[in-house]
Amino acid sequence: MDSILVRGGAELKGEIEIAGAKNACLALMPATLLSEEPLTLTNAPRLSDIRTMTMLLQSLGAEVQNLAGGKVQAMSSHAEITPIADYDIVRKMRASNLVLGPLLARLGHAVVSLPGGCAIGARPMDLHIDALESLGARIELRDGYLHAKAAQGLKGARYEMRFASVGATENFLMAAVLAKGSSQLVNAAREPEIVDLVKCLRAMGAQISGEGTSTIEIQGVDRLHGATHPVVTDRIELGTYMLAPAIAGGEVECIGGRRDLVASFCDKLEAAEIEVEETGRGLKVKRKNGRVGAVDVVTAPFPGFPTDLQAQMMALLCTADGVSVLEETVFENRFMHAPELVRMGATIDVHGGHATVTGVERLKGAPVMATDLRASVSLILAALAAEGETLVSRVYHLDRGYERLEEKLGACGARVERVKGQ
Ligand code: EPZ
Repeated sequence: MDSILVRGGAELKGEIEIAGAKNACLALMPATLLSEEPLTLTNAPRLSDIRTMTMLLQSLGAEVQNLAGGKVQAMSSHAEITPIADYDIVRKMRASNLVLGPLLARLGHAVVSLPGGCAIGARPMDLHIDALESLGARIELRDGYLHAKAAQGLKGARYEMRFASVGATENFLMAAVLAKGSSQLVNAAREPEIVDLVKCLRAMGAQISGEGTSTIEIQGVDRLHGATHPVVTDRIELGTYMLAPAIAGGEVECIGGRRDLVASFCDKLEAAEIEVEETGRGLKVKRKNGRVGAVDVVTAPFPGFPTDLQAQMMALLCTADGVSVLEETVFENRFMHAPELVRMGATIDVHGGHATVTGVERLKGAPVMATDLRASVSLILAALAAEGETLVSRVYHLDRGYERLEEKLGACGARVERVKGQ
């Protein structure tokens, strides 16, 4: 297993190109199952999660070509599609469950392995199941697989979600677009990745409105045609790299960054004495003055503060001037980066869903271990300003969501290198 070695203390200067959104692409790729005509995604990120989704779709019978080094996904599912999403692939990545809705819509049948838990929480599928059953599917759990059937086809319905689940919203939308009649999803997720999926489905001929709000209306159609769609900018990669100069000092311009994708995050950065400037090409970030200010953070579904930026924000607040409290309301176990940051000299007390961070002058490099995707990058961010060397192990987590991180940070002056595992 590879590790990443960071020698702290270098200020950053330069620009970082922000890639297409992993979490948009993982929902857009299964949409190819909804049409026999080709669906091509441009601006796709080059990540291991995308390669996993490619393998899954190919195992179902779809053709997926990663062109232009992976930036273009040319997909087609005109061939015979089989409904079985095997455990071996699904266990690697929870987002595999996003083939459930499209398979039901296309075939009226799906057998999708339960993804199994993951480090940040149990991550059940009850909302996905309820939402799809509201459209007439019958879903039962047998031998670790969800067996879903809609023998008479899917029928439009009104469904109100108890929680604005991103994945359940995506599965509902990709099923309802081919259901008979109209559907209404209430308390739908409002994330930019949902908006991007709706734009793509509309380009394929779907009739949808209300994306980005809590109520999405869908008028089912008989069939969808092919399309070419650009994947939206990755707001989580954007927020992650905006924190690099905030932590290490200096100034970095994140090319392709848009403030509307990270508005609540930018508000918090500015409250912490970090300057965010909208340039014509992206977002330029630097500290307003010497010390970062302490701020409190509560994660929430979009447009609230993103849970996927909580770990990275904690890395910033470890050396803030004062005490900050971070409340994680989306996942039940998303503070695993805290004990690793404490190994680097941070003062963090975790009680249930709250982490209290008392800022220290400077962290000290140490060997630390990545536990999940966003925790791993928070350790690298913290290491940029820590005294001495930090070796972050198990960086396969990192490769799921950040393409060429060491190159992107290295180009701005960070001393970051990959150490090949034995
Ligand atoms: C998506 O996961 C993202 N992944 C996650 O990003 C992100 O953290 C999450 O949304 C929240 O924004 C992708 O888009 C591929 P949810 P998803 O359904 O859809 C509970 C990353 O780091 N829940 O909105 O799985 C669930 O347990 C990843 O890129 C149920 O209880 O998130 C969690 O506590 C991590 N029952 C909460 O809702 C369900 O049926 C949010 O889950 C579904 C979810």
